[in-house]
Amino acid sequence: MQRTQIKKYRIGKPIPTDSVVVDVELEQGAIPYFHTDEPAKRLTFSLEKEDRVYGLGETIRGMNKRGWIYTSKNADDPVHTEDKRSLYASQNFILITSDKRSLGVYVDTPGVVTFDIGYTKLNELRIDFEDFDADLYFVEGESPLSIVSQFRHIIGRSYIPPRWAFGFGQSRWGYKNAEDVRRVADQYEKAGIPIDMIYMDIDYMERFKDFTVDEKAFPNFPSFVEEMRGRGIHLVPIIDAGVKIEDGYDVYEEGVKGDFFCKKENGENLVAAVWPGKVHFPDFLKDSAREWFGNKYKVLLDQGIDGFWNDMNEPAIFYTEDHLKEVFEKIEDYKGKNLDIWSFFEFKGLVGSIDNNEEDYRRFYHEYKGQKIRHDKVHNIFGYNMTRAAGEAFEKLSPDKRILMFSRSSFIGAHRYGGVWCGDNQSWWSHLLLNIQQMPALSMCGFLFSGADIGGFGANTTEDLVLRWTAFGIFTPLFRNHAALGTREQEMYQFPSKDVFKHLVELRYALVPYLYSEFMKAALEEKMLFKPLAFEYSDERSREIEDQLLLGDSIMIAPVYKQNTTGRMVYLPEDMKLVRFRAYDDYDEEVLTKGDHYVKADLNEVLVFIRKGGVLPLAKPADRTTGVKVENLNYLCYEAKPEDYKLYEDDGESRL
Ligand code: GLC
Repeated sequence: MQRTQIKKYRIGKPIPTDSVVVDVELEQGAIPYFHTDEPAKRLTFSLEKEDRVYGLGETIRGMNKRGWIYTSKNADDPVHTEDKRSLYASQNFILITSDKRSLGVYVDTPGVVTFDIGYTKLNELRIDFEDFDADLYFVEGESPLSIVSQFRHIIGRSYIPPRWAFGFGQSRWGYKNAEDVRRVADQYEKAGIPIDMIYMDIDYMERFKDFTVDEKAFPNFPSFVEEMRGRGIHLVPIIDAGVKIEDGYDVYEEGVKGDFFCKKENGENLVAAVWPGKVHFPDFLKDSAREWFGNKYKVLLDQGIDGFWNDMNEPAIFYTEDHLKEVFEKIEDYKGKNLDIWSFFEFKGLVGSIDNNEEDYRRFYHEYKGQKIRHDKVHNIFGYNMTRAAGEAFEKLSPDKRILMFSRSSFIGAHRYGGVWCGDNQSWWSHLLLNIQQMPALSMCGFLFSGADIGGFGANTTEDLVLRWTAFGIFTPLFRNHAALGTREQEMYQFPSKDVFKHLVELRYALVPYLYSEFMKAALEEKMLFKPLAFEYSDERSREIEDQLLLGDSIMIAPVYKQNTTGRMVYLPEDMKLVRFRAYDDYDEEVLTKGDHYVKADLNEVLVFIRKGGVLPLAKPADRTTGVKVENLNYLCYEAKPEDYKLYEDDGESRL
């Protein structure tokens, strides 16, 4: 691979992010490719009609990002509609590509950056900065894939989870006690649906305090963890960014004593509120605080836990003590008044804008690399550093065994310490499509262990949506069904089609040798796991395909994401072998020629297309991933032989 085609330029005095781990020499002179407008804090690039723009990791809209405006400003926003500009992540890597040229651009700054990709002017890509400080990496290469590989090389190896994390996990905000969790395990076992993980949402904690377990709800937690492990199930607890303020609570007291919390201008610890009420935020940017917080995971590791999900780490803020006080004071003025249209809007705005308030992100500071920096300047790397805290600690606390870790908020760099899930999506068909479209962009940015809440988090789901979403989710490394408190229960056993779910999840388990092999190759060889068709096929039609994905080297998938349909149009850039699965051992195969096809896919069917020269190994499924063996695989091939497949094997546990 060519490593020499990356050029680094600097504008202003960027705050380092530690996202790039390879030394790239700084070039002098004017920024290439872009027109620089310093007073406007803007870089401009002329887009040609044929240019497509990919990347930005976890965002809204399609794979080709052209025609919208995206702001890197990590946001706790559970309504992922097309009009939004920010989600939970800032992953500032884009790729501009056409027949004539391909260019990767990484904008390395923790600050707010807006990518206006043909929004203001159809043929203009503008990168607008709140502060004109950034390291810019320009990556040239002969193809999108080579550009991505070079970029991935400089940001370091992607996080590798234990192999069991490729199993299925059930989650729900609302499992209150050990009985609830046992019931989930019982029901999955009763339905014969494989499962490896049950997630524990905030209710396992004692009044939402990090690194505590509610003893009434989970008496003798270590023995409960052991009981579940005995059944082959890993419990995966959530950890939130805010630490409850409570006398006698050791984490709070240690944090105060060690000076580990974020401070206001006057030096006092910021008081914000999240689930537990008032909290302090650990200053994850400060080395000592990061080390301290990371070591806290030991409390749960010692009780047998070996996986975590980090949440609310944008950070989400319900309110700050100071702002709440201001709001109450202002509300006084409205008392007894006849609120006209404008004063009513103002009044409503006061209360409505209380959470995740812009002003609050300017109320506190970090100690970062020896400097005091206001939060809004480094907002986008807060969640990243929480995950880093955990990842760095795990290397010491669990030197031999990999620990499962994924986060809600992220920034490039966090991909070395964990994966991500795509946050609070909704039980909408459009969000199934969004999930499909997010996967390749996440791969580009190194977030390989990723997935979204299957079935949708917010809103009530329907059985057919959970079926179709599961039929896609069986391909995503993170394969988790999760739902919000108060929504319709959506564990697979809640629905009449238990057998179909069983077949789908069994198919996932049968795919584990393939998924794990392709995942490991992607991580170790700096390759993409999910690819848009256009990254491998150069024909015109492939460029516009936004609902099919290449997964690893052997297959293409075409999920059904529309309600009340019994099939879909599929575009084949070359002849492929269609395998229509009803179960891992019940499928039909047919070679389809290059071009468009209407392909039937009922609610119980999954479409897989084996590419020319492709080999898809299938294992015999088991109730748990540990039972999925790589011996006696069934190889489905198209113009290839089983020996052509490079199976990746290891013990699935040891660190690499
Ligand atoms: C946040 C998370 C969600 C979780 C909830 C309660 O909304 O994104 O996954 O269930 O908090 O912890």
